[in-house]
Amino acid sequence: MTNDLNSIFSTIKNRRTIYPPAYSDKKLDKKDIEKILEAATWAPNHGSTEPWRFFIFQNASRQNLADFLGEEYKKQFRGDLYNDRKFTNASTWPLLAQAVIAVGMKRTLNSKIPKIEEERAVACAIQNMLLMSGELGIASYWSTGKVVYSEAMKSFLKLEDEDEVIGLLYFAYPKEKTLKKTRTPFTKYTQWYDEL
Ligand SMILES: Cc1cc2nc3c(=O)[nH]c(=O)nc-3n(C[C@H](O)[C@H](O)[C@H](O)COP(=O)(O)O)c2cc1C
Repeated sequence: MTNDLNSIFSTIKNRRTIYPPAYSDKKLDKKDIEKILEAATWAPNHGSTEPWRFFIFQNASRQNLADFLGEEYKKQFRGDLYNDRKFTNASTWPLLAQAVIAVGMKRTLNSKIPKIEEERAVACAIQNMLLMSGELGIASYWSTGKVVYSEAMKSFLKLEDEDEVIGLLYFAYPKEKTLKKTRTPFTKYTQWYDEL
């Protein structure tokens, strides 16, 4: 294996979800955020529609996002569905991250490309972002859920009806390295068709 192959394997295997309570308050360099965004734009995308859109919350604007997520959580999870821990996470975790990037899918109107493919292209873009952040030593967490997928979230980001929010990405330097997770070997999920 060449060094480059070793390096891409280690980039892929070392990416890990790290949650905001394990984030440090060390500032992120804007140049590093730009590297993460540039990596996103190199994702495959059918018809070159480049459907990704990025909304970056840093510094004071994180409070707007946190307030929105908390209020929407309360509206969308009433009565027995309400969970105080989840409300607290929604309304405080953006403040623990140094940057939260909301990633949207901008639908190309009158396009022959199916919507699901534009969503998948944005998911590929997100993977590039997570890999680049891991390489920079920056922790990341891809968050979704009912509030993130809601019409209210779309309006908050000024997206149109036909667009989608694909996720909120939390970024910060981690306080400490987290344990590696394991994966099932691909052999369990793979069939080789070599012969007729
Ligand atoms: C589409 C997508 C949505 C996700 N949404 C959430 C989420 O809402 N909450 C969460 O805790 N993790 C979420 N995750 C992260 C997974 O929990 C995480 O990737 C998984 O535990 C594997 O850990 P790893 O990323 O460290 O390999 C999401 C991942 C993907 C791909």
